[in-house]
Amino acid sequence: MRNTSFISRISNALFGGNTQTQPTEEKGKLNMKIGIISGSVREGRNSAAVTEWIHDFAVKRNDEGVEYEMVALADYDLPLLGSKLSAERQAEAGAAIQAWSAKIASFDGYIFVTPEYNHAVGGALKNALDFLKPEVADKAAGFVGYGSLGGARAHENMRVILGELSVATVHTTVNFSLMTDFENMSNFVPNDYHAGNATAMFDEVIKWSGALKTIR
Ligand SMILES: Cc1cc2nc3c(=O)[nH]c(=O)nc-3n(C[C@H](O)[C@H](O)[C@H](O)COP(=O)(O)O)c2cc1C
Repeated sequence: MRNTSFISRISNALFGGNTQTQPTEEKGKLNMKIGIISGSVREGRNSAAVTEWIHDFAVKRNDEGVEYEMVALADYDLPLLGSKLSAERQAEAGAAIQAWSAKIASFDGYIFVTPEYNHAVGGALKNALDFLKPEVADKAAGFVGYGSLGGARAHENMRVILGELSVATVHTTVNFSLMTDFENMSNFVPNDYHAGNATAMFDEVIKWSGALKTIR
């Protein structure tokens, strides 16, 4: 137990201050972690190249006090939520759920790289989000997508889902076209102009992630 002197307790009571030295975050430093989530588990997925591009973009920004980490949903062999599992699979699945939950909880904000399947977010990512709630609550998220309309409909779908999980989704999104930012819809060659939206999206995610950190 800390030995607080009578004088310092009186001083705190009278003046509201704390005369003891407290560990504080260095002024101006955000100390934030942003997860960049690759949201497809499909073999041969385009999300891998897009996630690497957006992670490289993030690292090059050199944001002071902000750390970026890529997370591939495909690395977590999550079961379908609530499905009946064999005893052998149960232990494995339990460990995967725990690892996913802990990894996602470790971030202050997120960039979700989302494919679009049938005008919505892919089923694997929706299922993975269904395992979460406190892990993501009162945090911020931005979106990167690709598709015939840049994944825009998947992003709108994500806003609804994340709203239910108390995640604040920022305005600007990055939308790659399967027709003009990919060769043969599989080799990712993004147009330079996407840098503008990527910059705005990162600025917004950092701003909101920093603000929301103060209320958790
Ligand atoms: C079942 C299915 C449905 C799809 N629906 C859409 C769609 O509604 N809109 C769209 O833009 N692309 C759609 N696509 C194309 C995917 O967005 C494209 O294949 C993309 O590369 C998928 O992401 P991934 O490669 O990271 O898994 C669909 C693809 C599949 C297989």
